[in-house]
Amino acid sequence: HQTLAGRDLLHFSDLTERELEQLLRLSQVLKEAQKTHFTHRLLAGKTIGLIFDKSSTRTRVSFEVGMLQLGGHALFLPGNQLQTGRGEPISDTAQVMSRYVDGVMIRTFRQADVETFAEYATVPVINGLTDEFHPCQLLADALTILEHMGGLRGVTVAYVGDGNNLANSWLQVAPKLGMNIRVATPPGYKPLAHVVEEAKFHAVHNHTQVLVTTDPMRAVDGADVIYTDTWVSMGDEAEAQVRLPQFERYQVNEELCKLAKPDHIFMHCLPAHRGEEVSEEVIDGEHSVIFDQAENRLHAQKAIMAALMADAGAFGEDL
Ligand code: CP
Ligand code: NVA
Repeated sequence: HQTLAGRDLLHFSDLTERELEQLLRLSQVLKEAQKTHFTHRLLAGKTIGLIFDKSSTRTRVSFEVGMLQLGGHALFLPGNQLQTGRGEPISDTAQVMSRYVDGVMIRTFRQADVETFAEYATVPVINGLTDEFHPCQLLADALTILEHMGGLRGVTVAYVGDGNNLANSWLQVAPKLGMNIRVATPPGYKPLAHVVEEAKFHAVHNHTQVLVTTDPMRAVDGADVIYTDTWVSMGDEAEAQVRLPQFERYQVNEELCKLAKPDHIFMHCLPAHRGEEVSEEVIDGEHSVIFDQAENRLHAQKAIMAALMADAGAFGEDL
């Protein structure tokens, strides 16, 4: 994790295979530390600012609690109560906040705004979800798969639904961790083309497979993991009536899940909409690991914050 100190996490293009594996390992160590009450105050006396321009349950709570467990403090900063909400430039805000805090997490609409903030900030900036990417979620998801499957290499993930921030982040992370990724979306809702290209490049390098299709059955056939997310993301609310009918064929239900491996797991980043992207039987059924995923947000984000924000030498022999 030493190579990550002082850096940003804006999306997974920023990280190498090795750095991702280091973050996963640190997540496991911190999870174990928390369960055994082993002290891990890696960020004692440090402060993170959490800027939210969109709603959140998991991200907010896990960042705040995680920072406390690491010995630091978190500030909840709703965007509409900051001066940015009244037009103060992102560049000024980033430079001002860098004089007070040791790191900033931002959840907002445009990826470009997080990148502008990071360009002007002199402290690490973490993407807590944009319209394009959600890297913190994906690190927690990889940890969850690792725990349930015992490894990541060769695992096949089928993402079914909207080609949104989750789909894009899956395409960025899967090939780097040795996983196969298949994404099935309705024709007008594909993931970002440049992200698909990037995924294919890393897949060749790492001998994994990338499939982008409009056929959910083709994606799920023989998969180890079935993943879905809402059909109407934050910011898409005005399109709901247009979107919903186009996604009908993409519901993850028992019939679709029959095509996956018998011991597959079902995942969802939450919040979920039972009866839309997933049926009640599936999300509340025996293959579902949604609450393990939600818990792992805490452990994975503690690893991210510690790796980016801890002082050199904070990591003892055990970490
Ligand atoms: N999965 C996720 O990011 O949840 P929240 O929107 O509740 O933070
Ligand atoms: N794709 C969803 C994820 C929520 C955690 C959204 O952006 O609203």
